[in-house]
Amino acid sequence: MSLALENLRAPKPTERPDLWPWSAKFADGELTLGGWPVTKLVEQCGSPVYVLDEPDLVGRATVWATVMAEEFWVGYGMGGGSAYYAAKAMMSARVIELVTAAGMGVDTASLGELTTALHAGADPNMIGLHGNNKSDEELRLAISAGERGIARIVIDSADEVARVAAIAEELGRKARVMIRVTTGVHAGGHEFIATAHEDQKFGLSLATGAAKRVALDIQDYESLEFVGVHSHIGSQIRDLDAFSESAGRLLGLVKDLQDEGVACNELDLGGGYAITYTGQDPEPTSPKDIARALASAVRNKCEELGLKVPHVSIEPGRSTVGPSTVTLYRVGTVKEVPLGDGKSRLYVSVDGGMSDNIRPALYEADYTALLANREASSALVLARIVGKHCESGDIVVHDVALPADVKRGDILAVPATGAYGHAMSSNYNMLTRPGTLGVGTGDPHWIIYPEKLSDLLDRDAYLASKN
Ligand code: LLP
Repeated sequence: MSLALENLRAPKPTERPDLWPWSAKFADGELTLGGWPVTKLVEQCGSPVYVLDEPDLVGRATVWATVMAEEFWVGYGMGGGSAYYAAKAMMSARVIELVTAAGMGVDTASLGELTTALHAGADPNMIGLHGNNKSDEELRLAISAGERGIARIVIDSADEVARVAAIAEELGRKARVMIRVTTGVHAGGHEFIATAHEDQKFGLSLATGAAKRVALDIQDYESLEFVGVHSHIGSQIRDLDAFSESAGRLLGLVKDLQDEGVACNELDLGGGYAITYTGQDPEPTSPKDIARALASAVRNKCEELGLKVPHVSIEPGRSTVGPSTVTLYRVGTVKEVPLGDGKSRLYVSVDGGMSDNIRPALYEADYTALLANREASSALVLARIVGKHCESGDIVVHDVALPADVKRGDILAVPATGAYGHAMSSNYNMLTRPGTLGVGTGDPHWIIYPEKLSDLLDRDAYLASKN
């Protein structure tokens, strides 16, 4: 077997535990999730299906909340630390219930996300709201929630200040606000998911002084309470220095503001911590090491600038929920396509595709896939897993080594689909979106129901008018 092919094989859970949810095992010739054989899950619940290992999610949420609380503990001379789950990665009431019970807050970015978080029972004092174009309705809900409104509305532009202030005044409340700062630190894989460089839609520039001006503006309003500064530099980032650099720049602003008599008690460093998607990825840095590196960068910069260490929070989405979930697909058509030079590639079509995971098409994101319903016996061949959509870019896994005898009816498991899989799913080609099945806590249960064709047909106003 060639080394290149061996490298493209999906490692099993024992080989790369960082790629799979904690309960994943390959036992008795098949993959089990939460103790349930994948054949049974697919037989009973259909495919494609996202399978979410609930104890895995709870574990990761507990770890993030704990390491932030510990590394930024006031007893160490710090200002306290916390972690907000970035719900855009995967929003569902059950997920919110699990991560908040584990000690995380919730970062939301729309009326739908905020409403779900509140309905799921998240404490408004641990909820944030982002967005470069928040609606009045979103702001109203954020400000009126609970006893004091949500913990932080992250102001993204100069003209938002007066709008938030007016709504808070109308509601007779003081809105707690942060400002989103563009620090100029650019990190992460794809340009579309790197967010703190200058020429893009988010935030207020540090370099031009816009961030400082807006922070000062906020002080003019009785109905606003300035909580602190925020930056999110991108996604799937491995380079911890990028976060430290961004923290340092934010603290420079905090110092500037302090010199103007404005106190800034909180610093949020956003999300973006990388996870493992394939066997070729390096192991990710542990949350403990990340929190420790952030704490040391913040402490050193505060010492240098003569600042009291603020409360520090982060917003990990992908690294909380991403590894918890595996997508199970059924294999349909298998086709050998010649590549020239006597080589060929096996095109393996599955029953989902870019409608349940747009990331390979949108960001050229890499995934891997394991033949999950039986032990592989034949030699490995170069394969590409494709979906069933009418588009040649409809790729689930670009390059993977699969056993040559992979055939119709087999089950393929694609790990690490918990973040931005369901969240960015669509009905392209009128496909119904798969459900998310929770495992690991009692019997498998739906967290998100699979869509039915009737759900889609019901939205067709013309059809409805004829019935
Ligand atoms: N905080 C803010 C303000 C954000 O905008 C985001 C992600 C996060 C936190 C969470 O980042 P995470 O820890 O999940 O990397 N759809 C893309 C990712 C876009 C993320 C947008 N914002 C993807 O599929 O990779």
